Amino acid sequence: MNSTQDLQYTWAGRFSEPVSDLVKRYTASVDFDQRMWRQDIRGSLAHAKMLARQGIITVSDLADIERGMTTITVEIENGQFQWSLDLEDVHLNIEKRLTTLVGDAGKRLHTGRSRNDQVATDIRLFLRDGIDGILALLKNFQIAILALAEREAATPMPGFTHLQIAQPVTFGHHMLAYFEMFLRDSERFTDCRKRVNRLPLGAAALAGTTYPIDREFVAAELGFDAVCENSLDAVSDRDFAIEFCAACALTMTHISRLSEELVLWMSPRVGFIQIADRFCTGSSIMPQKKNPDVPELARGKTGRVYGDLTALLTLMKSQPLAYNKDNQEDKEPLFDALDTVSDTLIIFADMMGGVTVKADALRAALKQGFATATDLADYLVKKGLPFRDAHEAVGRAVKAAEQKGVDLTELSLAELQAFSPQVALGEDVFAALTIEGSLAARNHIGGAAPEQVKAAIGRAKKRLG
Ligand code: ARG
Repeated sequence: MNSTQDLQYTWAGRFSEPVSDLVKRYTASVDFDQRMWRQDIRGSLAHAKMLARQGIITVSDLADIERGMTTITVEIENGQFQWSLDLEDVHLNIEKRLTTLVGDAGKRLHTGRSRNDQVATDIRLFLRDGIDGILALLKNFQIAILALAEREAATPMPGFTHLQIAQPVTFGHHMLAYFEMFLRDSERFTDCRKRVNRLPLGAAALAGTTYPIDREFVAAELGFDAVCENSLDAVSDRDFAIEFCAACALTMTHISRLSEELVLWMSPRVGFIQIADRFCTGSSIMPQKKNPDVPELARGKTGRVYGDLTALLTLMKSQPLAYNKDNQEDKEPLFDALDTVSDTLIIFADMMGGVTVKADALRAALKQGFATATDLADYLVKKGLPFRDAHEAVGRAVKAAEQKGVDLTELSLAELQAFSPQVALGEDVFAALTIEGSLAARNHIGGAAPEQVKAAIGRAKKRLG
């Protein structure tokens, strides 16, 4: 079959000359949208079944279509299917092959539908599977985060603000912060799925169709929750895809923040953790290097997912109703966001399982940063000093300790008393100033006390389901 014949097959009746090779390549999408072939066949089978039930095609046409689609499925799975650029996209390629295989029944398949509602249906089916995949991957990743949190629930580490040591937390507590972020990400995907899961078929090109179709039947066949209510909207908007990319972008934001911390923590200057060698690479020139390539790449790939979101937002803005060919450009960013997030989550689940925490380094850092200064202020407040005065007194104590090159706990009782003579500062102050004392005191829901962290892990496991 040559290109002129292929062209005749679809719309040659209206045209007097074929497009140039470049225009053909420019307008075709089959190279990338063939990825939706399973969804395309599934949607066509549901449509054909409905046409037969409604008496629009015969039962024998339906049987031919089903037989042809079975053959096509085998051909595509075995890599024998001949994808043709002349047939523009996945839809026309499959329809043409069907007609070659089964004759007129194949030509009747497109009754009462258009590629406009067909492609919108395929994308929604594809995305629904994609979301279900991501939700499963997110869950696995969170299980890995929780396992690490549980292992290090009571391991003290410095909590930072402004990248300066602020107060003690535990490594488990820190991991639980990421658990919360990724849980919200899965909620976003679950929510997005509700709006993805609507059936556009029946909208046809833009205005609906003159055949007595049964859209609810097709929706039920394909597992959609409902039909798209308006035919113009059904073929035109891709807000569900934008929403998906926005959820991907936020997930990558969280991945990127985690990556940044992993890179920082495994820098030899910090040395808080090690990640397994299989996630690192060496340097071609510096023999001593072990570079955290995976987290760095994930941080970098976050940018490309933002790009995917921006591409889709820009694609949609200013498009008049209803379908415009612009929309063919929705697929590559969508696929890219899906693939990037999926691969990242698979790798990160494995990588977090292989994190080794260096508890000694974490403790040593805590000792250098006056991390319990707030605890000293709180102690003075409990002895009756107003908080602002306590804050000032501790500020002076920190300055003195810094000048002496010691930690607050290394100041003598008399020295400490001198900073706040108004209150009865006793020996018990030293217990409040220890890392363990500081942690244990934050004993409320959401706080850093190891007891609370363990309880939070228990709840997190339940919330994960
Ligand atoms: N390949 C097209 C797409 O991805 C299918 C719809 C084409 N419709 C049309 N009227 N040109 O959007």
